[in-house]
Amino acid sequence: MINVKICTGTHCYIMGESDLFSFIDELSKSEASLVKVEGSTCLDLCKEYNSSAPYVLIDDEVISNANKEVILGRVKDLLDRMQND
Ligand code: FES
Repeated sequence: MINVKICTGTHCYIMGESDLFSFIDELSKSEASLVKVEGSTCLDLCKEYNSSAPYVLIDDEVISNANKEVILGRVKDLLDRMQND
């Protein structure tokens, strides 16, 4: 299972796109069944790296300046890796 945590804190919300969650719509049903997506209150990353919001955590990897395409690309990489293991 791939865990995607999208920050919905104020700073990330202001700096981000409103449709970050919609990357899941680009996956097939079987791919989407391997991905858990949830919103999160402030991940405390905006205090550390102020100018790179919005932030998303994919498993333990921090994605800064996140957008739908970047999230989708990283998730697809991880899905490919899971299929090849
Ligand atoms: S509001 Fe997103 S990390 Fe703080």
